[in-house]
Amino acid sequence: MARKDILGLYDLEAGEIEALLSDGLQYKALLKRGERQWSELCGKSVVTLFYENSTRTRCSFELAAVRLGAHVVNLSMATSSVQKGETLVDTGKTLDAMKCDVMVIRHPTGGAPRLLAGTVKAHVINAGDGMNEHPSQALLDMLTMKEHLGRIAGLKVAILGDIRHSRVARSNLYGLKKLGARVSMFAPRTLMPDGLDRMGAEICTSREACVEGADVVMGLRIQLERQKAGYFPSLGEYAKYYGIDENVMQYAKPGALILHPGPVNRGIELTAGLIDGPQSHIEDQVLSGVAVRMAMLKMLCQEERI
Ligand code: CP
Repeated sequence: MARKDILGLYDLEAGEIEALLSDGLQYKALLKRGERQWSELCGKSVVTLFYENSTRTRCSFELAAVRLGAHVVNLSMATSSVQKGETLVDTGKTLDAMKCDVMVIRHPTGGAPRLLAGTVKAHVINAGDGMNEHPSQALLDMLTMKEHLGRIAGLKVAILGDIRHSRVARSNLYGLKKLGARVSMFAPRTLMPDGLDRMGAEICTSREACVEGADVVMGLRIQLERQKAGYFPSLGEYAKYYGIDENVMQYAKPGALILHPGPVNRGIELTAGLIDGPQSHIEDQVLSGVAVRMAMLKMLCQEERI
């Protein structure tokens, strides 16, 4: 049966992830060649609802929809009736009544996209919900890995940073394990939630062990906006004892990819030299984001619902 919504990589079958990566890789190659316009979503309308700030995800979903020929509307939270107390469900029903085809939602509460999806006829895509999932980010990360390393199965992917608050870490863990990669993780104990080992992650007690032999090293942003408690003494100490620097990278495979979902706290999660260095694919991840979001929109809009 065709999929109505994309709410997380926990839900997707390995074959669906492979299909999105394959389609996204084709779009990325065409975008790099200078192509800009397609017609797969001609006549469709896409609304973006961002209840949290975003640069990359919102712009790339909107560009992806425009590139495929859709009409795109952004619901500005600052000026919408959300400010008058309208609920998420009522907002969704209102957009449904306008015959919107796809709603792309980012929300600070985990589960909000699933609530919306259960209420509206439109397709719903999760653009990041609280500390739960960020499926399009993990897909673009995997697309970048597949483009540069040729495969996902058998890779070792090291993820370091604020794992407790990271929807990116969770979505990557689900997706990478489904496609046969190893995932190692390292964070200060206070930023490492329980239970990720039961989901297939190798939890490490040092940066070096986490990065040892890795094909990909992914830094995660310290999410100061979600940290109510003091999880570490200072940013300077975080950078010194937990950050990814040139010494730590020596434990990875030569030429290992350095990834980061952005926005980066320069000099905290990664040194400036690594961010701007030859192993960094952080800017390239952004183009992967447009390409894989094109593939996601196309998958939902083109398949017939039974
Ligand atoms: N990676 C990511 O989600 O970035 P934005 O918050 O800028 O969308």
